[in-house]
Amino acid sequence: MHADIESLAADAAERFVAAAEASRGPRFDVVLTGGSTAPAVYRLLAEEPFASRVDWRRVHVWWTDERCVPPDDPRSNYDAAREALLDRVPIPCEQIHRMRGEDPNPEREAVRYEAALRADQALARGEPPSFDFALLGLGGDAHVASLFPGSSTAALSDRLVAAVRSGEVAMPDPVVDRLTLTFSALNGARAAVFVVAGDGKAAALRAALEEPADPVLRPASGIRTAGGPPAWLVDRAAASLLSGAG
Ligand code: 6PG
Repeated sequence: MHADIESLAADAAERFVAAAEASRGPRFDVVLTGGSTAPAVYRLLAEEPFASRVDWRRVHVWWTDERCVPPDDPRSNYDAAREALLDRVPIPCEQIHRMRGEDPNPEREAVRYEAALRADQALARGEPPSFDFALLGLGGDAHVASLFPGSSTAALSDRLVAAVRSGEVAMPDPVVDRLTLTFSALNGARAAVFVVAGDGKAAALRAALEEPADPVLRPASGIRTAGGPPAWLVDRAAASLLSGAG
């Protein structure tokens, strides 16, 4: 448990860099979450002592999800990552794989993004993506990415990317159509790290960690990656309802 978000973000940045340093081969594929917590990690990664420890030329960036808004919209997860990290480190632009939230047809973009992921990683049919590191956030309703409680998207097993219509399921602001990786894609990661801060997440964190795993009711509990269970980096406020919390 971390005292505050600064400590939590530094831990997440260290894990990202350590995974990059440990990875072998020509590329390091990461999946970035949206939301307001993760940018604290992105800003640290763009600065010393972290930035120079990563060979950014090897890095490929994917997203867990995106709001269906233009890329320069303040609600865009791409825009948040661009401002905090991508504009500040030398990742080749063709290795930044943005979900095109501006497409007025989210289902069409979900198909395109899935095809791009399969082609770029040369995935065989049925083969999960090979992400080296996934940074994830937890919603106050225990959602992950844009996999919201009660959504039928959680049950999709043959898709890597799906569109979530805002009228289909209850979702927190911004209430807009979304694009999201599915569990089939997210669980292809070799390592996954949740960053969770604030007392607004305490009930969701307790449910995700202490109630029976249920990817429909508590989507974050459905994260079980190839490399094992995710790491949970939480601050004291978010952990306040966990059993044993002082
Ligand atoms: C999004 C995110 C979402 C986020 C959680 C936590 O598009 O909003 O991808 O899954 O990670 O909702 O968000 P906060 O960090 O803002 O609490």
